[in-house]
Amino acid sequence: MDTSSRLSAYSEYTIKWATQDWEIEQAYKLRRRVFCDEQTLFEHDDRDVTDQSAQLLVALGGYGGWHEQVVGTVRIHPAGPSTWHGSRLAVDPNFRNRGHLGSTLIKLAVSSAHALGCRHFFARVQPQNEPLFRHLHWDRIGEETVCGLKHVVMEANLDHYPPCHDPVSGFVVRGYTPDYIDEIAPGLLELLTTQASAVAMERSTR
Ligand SMILES: CC(C)(COP(=O)(O)OP(=O)(O)OC[C@H]1O[C@@H](n2cnc3c(N)ncnc32)[C@H](O)[C@@H]1OP(=O)(O)O)[C@@H](O)C(=O)NCCC(=O)NCCS
Repeated sequence: MDTSSRLSAYSEYTIKWATQDWEIEQAYKLRRRVFCDEQTLFEHDDRDVTDQSAQLLVALGGYGGWHEQVVGTVRIHPAGPSTWHGSRLAVDPNFRNRGHLGSTLIKLAVSSAHALGCRHFFARVQPQNEPLFRHLHWDRIGEETVCGLKHVVMEANLDHYPPCHDPVSGFVVRGYTPDYIDEIAPGLLELLTTQASAVAMERSTR
């Protein structure tokens, strides 16, 4: 891991239903960065009428239970008595391919809908992400065009997503473990080295 990725890493990530205003605000900001700026699917704002009834999920980076920043998000919404959809899955580019944040957001999305009586969970998946969803036990159902872009319609196999009845607590994923003691407590290593040298010197002069 290089120095820049070390600096942006957290010791743990909590994947949960968004409940706080700051979580919701940062999730929408992240979506704008990913779907407007990065993917240019929307011009200024990707929010739509679905957001009025959808449940937002967030991945929060933090230390020791202190939640600092939204680094990933997705939303779920019912589309019928036992049918749910997931959409707007996004992980901050600095936190992709690390700690399985996207996978864990998908896991909580489907498992929390399952606990609410969902029997069929669908998503329209961008083609480059189909292997990721297949890996997570989703089946290809068909194709649809969304925002002028071909999407793959996929359904989750609920056998792999046991109901989660406490989505506000959600799941905690272990993050970065420091390689060196000076990354945990800067200056501590220097202090210990100085003290050890002083003890060795004292012993040698006895
Ligand atoms: C798609 C996205 C959410 C994945 O988030 P992520 O946190 O990087 O995903 P994960 O770390 O959980 O990935 C799990 C695994 O799938 C792999 N993977 C991730 N994205 C993949 C993709 N598009 N295709 C194939 N494999 C992929 C990862 O390498 C990782 O492999 P590993 O288990 O061997 O380590 C993220 O890349 C993203 O935000 N992309 C831009 C927005 C987007 O495309 N949204 C989805 C719209 S359908």
